[in-house]
Amino acid sequence: MKSCGSHAIQLTPPIYCPPPLPVSSKVLDIGCGAGQTLALAYPDRVSFGIDIDFDALSLGRTFTDRVCFVCGKAEALPWPNDHFDLVIARVSLVYTNINTSLREIHRVLKQGGDLWVTLHPFPFPWRQVKSSNYKGWIFFAYIVLNSALFHLAGKQFPFLGRYESFQTEGSMSRALTRTGFRNISFKRGRHFLVTARSE
Ligand SMILES: C[S@@+](CC[C@H](N)C(=O)[O-])C[C@H]1O[C@@H](n2cnc3c(N)ncnc32)[C@H](O)[C@@H]1O
Repeated sequence: MKSCGSHAIQLTPPIYCPPPLPVSSKVLDIGCGAGQTLALAYPDRVSFGIDIDFDALSLGRTFTDRVCFVCGKAEALPWPNDHFDLVIARVSLVYTNINTSLREIHRVLKQGGDLWVTLHPFPFPWRQVKSSNYKGWIFFAYIVLNSALFHLAGKQFPFLGRYESFQTEGSMSRALTRTGFRNISFKRGRHFLVTARSE
């Protein structure tokens, strides 16, 4: 593990790896951190990673030249329409406005392109808050409200300029369907894995 900003960067192979793809396929990682997932899963090509954390991207540049790192937001992707065959996001969509990010992901994915995402189930923020101070509990209350709103009404709101939520299969299924994804499937284990195909 290396520490970068507020995030611990895992440099060993992640437990859940995105699927193998032909070398001609273009891959984008949203919230890529130091690009560790791309470097490990797709070392045979140059892939693309975007993150708001400049320090994490700088760390990534020190250990791989197989990732084209871009500093930016999931909600405003700086790529043209129909550009990627696969978009992945390991535990990063949960920190964004999910509806806006999904619209952007759908826009940059080619028709028939795939989405591979891991999310927060409820126990994750719950485990974090248990050892937290009162500020952590206030933020946890925001996460619960924001998640409930996303589940019930498909909407989210920011708190102090940040988004965070946990997801249910129902809320994700509705959000993905609204955006134009099909073949939606869920797998629950240590991570909450969601896959879908762009129409
Ligand atoms: C828990 S880390 C996961 C990093 C990496 N995907 C991994 O699996 O190790 C979440 C990442 O999402 C990034 N992030 C948060 N909000 C973002 C946004 N709106 N757009 C792009 N990246 C964002 C953070 O900077 C952080 O690097």
